[in-house]
Amino acid sequence: MDESPTLRGPRVTLRPARLEDAPALFELARDPAVTKYLAWPSPTCVEETREHLRLSAEQQRAPGSDIIHFCIARTGDDTPLGKTSLMHIHLAHRRAAVGSWIGRPFWGQGFMRETKALTLAYAFDALGLERVEAWVDIDNQRSLSSLERCGFRREGIARRHKRRGEAFVSQVLMAILRGEHVPLVRAVLNGQP
Ligand SMILES: CC(C)(COP(=O)(O)OP(=O)(O)OC[C@H]1O[C@@H](n2cnc3c(N)ncnc32)[C@H](O)[C@@H]1OP(=O)(O)O)[C@@H](O)C(=O)NCCC(=O)NCCS
Repeated sequence: MDESPTLRGPRVTLRPARLEDAPALFELARDPAVTKYLAWPSPTCVEETREHLRLSAEQQRAPGSDIIHFCIARTGDDTPLGKTSLMHIHLAHRRAAVGSWIGRPFWGQGFMRETKALTLAYAFDALGLERVEAWVDIDNQRSLSSLERCGFRREGIARRHKRRGEAFVSQVLMAILRGEHVPLVRAVLNGQP
């Protein structure tokens, strides 16, 4: 895919990740509470995070790529808060999936909600998608609640869908359709909690 656009909201800006973000993102991602439900382990050194950012940028630019990565940054001072990606972008079927994390110091303040509003406005309005999915570990209550507050609906449970260490965990398929994102986007732009 092309270079990620910059999407600016009142409190959150989504922009391309830069190698200079590595130290801040490493400090957030080294927290095991952040990666507990993710497909990758916490990085052990800043160079690992830098390499991850390098590879992600390469993956996005590769021919036939179906992924767009963003750094989630605070509007105003540009502090990195986490990352979000639109992946499995399928333009023929007009669908994609979203995956995100933010650092623990920034949980519980609505930053992910605004991130979802910006991502969904881009996915539905700029890319013309009809459907955006999220696959969530069945015990990741925080993510399930956050997505439901954004307008995603639970569509089903895929049993033992993901390997986590030695265990296989079931995942909830969540999805939001074109038009269902409008109340969220309006509320975020109007500064409503
Ligand atoms: C899952 C995750 C993204 C959710 O983050 P979050 O901060 O809880 O998400 P939200 O932005 O929806 O925040 C909602 C909370 O902010 C509060 N809040 C404060 N100010 C707010 C505002 N202006 N607008 C909206 N909510 C606000 C809400 O009341 C709610 O609080 P509660 O959790 O105590 O009920 C985060 O916990 C995370 O990164 N986890 C690790 C990675 C992960 O699991 N990713 C998902 C994989 S599927």
